[in-house]
Amino acid sequence: MKPTDRTLSMPPFRAMQILASARELEAQGRDIVHMELGEPDFRTPPHIIDAAFHAAEDGFTGYTPAEGLIELREALSSYYKQQYGVVVDPDRFIVTMGSSPALWLIFASILEQGDRVLMTDPHYACYPNDVRYVGGEPVKLPVRVEDGFRVDPGRVSAAANGNIKAFLINSPSNPTGSVTEPADLKAIAELPFEHLISDEIYHRITYGVKSHSMLEYREDAFILSGFSKVYAMTGWRLGWIIVPPDFIEPMRRVHQNLFLCASSFVQKAGVQKAGVAALTGPQDEVRRMVETYDKRRVFIVGALRDMGFNIPVEPAGAFYVLADARHLDESSENLSNRLLNEAGVAVTPGIDFGEAAEGFLRFSYATSIERIAEGMKRIGKWLET
Ligand SMILES: Cc1ncc(COP(=O)(O)O)c(C=O)c1O
Repeated sequence: MKPTDRTLSMPPFRAMQILASARELEAQGRDIVHMELGEPDFRTPPHIIDAAFHAAEDGFTGYTPAEGLIELREALSSYYKQQYGVVVDPDRFIVTMGSSPALWLIFASILEQGDRVLMTDPHYACYPNDVRYVGGEPVKLPVRVEDGFRVDPGRVSAAANGNIKAFLINSPSNPTGSVTEPADLKAIAELPFEHLISDEIYHRITYGVKSHSMLEYREDAFILSGFSKVYAMTGWRLGWIIVPPDFIEPMRRVHQNLFLCASSFVQKAGVQKAGVAALTGPQDEVRRMVETYDKRRVFIVGALRDMGFNIPVEPAGAFYVLADARHLDESSENLSNRLLNEAGVAVTPGIDFGEAAEGFLRFSYATSIERIAEGMKRIGKWLET
């Protein structure tokens, strides 16, 4: 008995491995500052919890249509009108269990064996692994430190030869925190890729700039997003895809066969007729969370720079800083292991996000300013020794 080769060759998610090692140290009594996780430290806003709780209590615990509740898809459609000024038919949404299955579903629906997907490097760790798992081939486009990690349409265009089936963009970006300018999004939208995929999971977590959806510039782009980050709902597993019309019916079938549907009462937490849930309810908590991230962002960027880390790009979105640590160690994995074991600070090695981020460390500031300050203090002391 043996798992398939593609299963055996799936690389681990290093951030989770760092977390596991940190937990082991904690079990031995060590105090660890966690800055490795891309997970909001806030609790889900109470009106969202109430909506799910009441839906479950009212017996809303069965299957829903595979594509998701119509009231949630209608609310998502209104949300796109209000946030981005685009009209999207509710039928173009497929509600998924977070944006991770959405990614897989898109790749599985557009890639034949050997088809190539162009993506930036650094990139979200799972992208190339997901592409490979469905038989596709990831192709990396390094985004350069000297360009401020900009996804330059000219360089994307130069890489867009006939062998590339799709381009995948993620703005605000994990791990760089950079936000692609509307003019660059528009220029990328006009490139002759058969498919354009836009991962918009960090939308609205931006500092002084507005998030623009690729849908504003290309109507048939695949958009994926979800509730995890902006509403602090990572464990609820709720997300969505917007698919081009020709893909609606076949992708619904695949979703139905593989997943049946997203959790029913969790979908009710996304929307409720009474108007008190994530999309339709008060958004004050989202504003409060983003303001808090912003304060931490300013603090951590300053503290890291004071300690000699080069931050080539001040993050304008998401909740990560990618810091150049090559002066300390060429191997980011080595360095993050040392920081964990010797300084008690958990961060993610840049190599998790591609070769272009080797020598960098990704600090997540989705943790309290007190813990960030403690982490900075420990790193400062460690550097002195
Ligand atoms: C860029 C990006 N896309 C997708 C995801 C997956 O999020 P979820 O499955 O919780 O929606 C993450 C999680 O960290 C991410 O950083």
